Formats: sequence, structure tokens, C-alpha cells
Amino acid sequence: MRRCWNLATEVFIVNNTWRTHPETPGDIAAIREVTLAAFPTAQEADIIDLLRTKPEAWVDGLSQVATDPDGQVVAHCLATRCVIGQGEALMLGPVAVLPAWQKRGAGTAVVTACLAEAKRQGEQFVVLVGHPTYYPRFGFTRADRHGIGVGIDCPPEAVMALSLNGDPLPAGVIHAPAFGL
Ligand SMILES: CC(C)(COP(=O)(O)OP(=O)(O)OC[C@H]1O[C@@H](n2cnc3c(N)ncnc32)[C@H](O)[C@@H]1OP(=O)(O)O)[C@@H](O)C(=O)NCCC(=O)NCCS
Repeated sequence: MRRCWNLATEVFIVNNTWRTHPETPGDIAAIREVTLAAFPTAQEADIIDLLRTKPEAWVDGLSQVATDPDGQVVAHCLATRCVIGQGEALMLGPVAVLPAWQKRGAGTAVVTACLAEAKRQGEQFVVLVGHPTYYPRFGFTRADRHGIGVGIDCPPEAVMALSLNGDPLPAGVIHAPAFGL
């Protein structure tokens, strides 16, 4: 698959152009709908709404949406403040794409937009718990190889980490209360 990357807020994948933008108040209901449609339960949608009320976790600009050609939100990615050991980091997720739009690059677009904005804001480290085969395309590697763990029983390959600037990741346990970590 040929990919061309625009440093602004558009990601071009094959013949689809995905436009992304940071969440606005007008996107909040659509983000919940997309997340409810993508996951089997409301847990992830509820986590997003909870995180929006937590100033210690919420980072403006790191809730990114992708829109279809009509401007409708079809994908969403969130990154919020977490801690690894004693160091600040971001927790990526949830990531959700409307089922009808999956596997057409929208997920890649929102994750890329979220990571690019995090880097632009000077963030260094990102962790996540997710599909082990999806996130390596963005540079994520197994967190346990960097001495990073979670305090719960979880497949080790599902916990991943990324250094946005190439600095060594801090070791330690991830603390992200909204995710039960
Ligand atoms: C996972 C998800 C965010 C991916 O977004 P997407 O827009 O469908 O994916 P993209 O078009 O950007 O990327 C397509 C690639 O992702 C892979 N992919 C899609 N869903 C995947 C999954 N659940 N696990 C692993 N890989 C997946 C495809 O196989 C494809 O791989 P390829 O590029 O090697 O052919 C989306 O499918 C989704 O919302 N799923 C339901 C909710 C979910 O599981 N969220 C993530 C939680 S970690």
C-alpha cells in the first residue's frame, strides 16, 4: 500500500484522503457514537467521557477525529496523561473507527494525527494496551522490552510503548487510573 504523509492534518492513503482535526465541542456526541459502534460495550465510550472531566489526564489537542467527505466523524483517537514509574507519558486509546469505514485508513489517520500533535506539543513517551499486530506500524514495540509493565494480568505483547523523540523510555509500572491501571 502506498502512503504519502502530509505534515499538516491530512493523511493520504491510496485514493482516500482523510481529514483529521482536534476534537471540538461539536464532535463530542459523534465521538461517543463512533466508539459505541466500534466496541462491544460502552466501556470505552464511558472512559472517554470520564477522561474529559479529568484535567490531570486530559491534554487539549490529543483527541483527534477523522471525517468522511461529508464531514461526518468516522474515526477517533485519544491520548491522555499517564505515568510510567515516576515519569510523565501519554496513554493512547481508545481508538475507534465506524465499522463501515474500517480497514480504509481512517484508524491510521487518527493515530498518526494524535501522535504528530503529541510530538508537536513536546510529549516524549506513549504507551498503550491494544492489538499487538496493529500498533507496530506506528513504531510501537513491546513495553516489557523497555522495563515497562502494568499492574494487572494482561498479555505482555498487548502492552506497547513508543518514544516520540528517540530518547530511552522510562522503566516502571504504568499508572492510568481511568483504564484501571
Ligand atoms: C482497530 C481499528 C482502530 C483499526 O482502524 P482501521 O481504520 O480499521 O485500520 P486501518 O485502515 O488504519 O489499517 C488497516 C490495517 O489494520 C489492520 N487491522 C484492523 N483491525 C485490526 C485489529 N483488530 N487487530 C489487528 N490489526 C487490525 C488491518 O488488517 C490492516 O492491516 P494491513 O495494513 O497490514 O493490511 C479499527 O478497526 C477499530 O475501530 N476496531 C474496533 C475497535 C478496536 O478494536 N479498537 C482498537 C483497540 S486496541
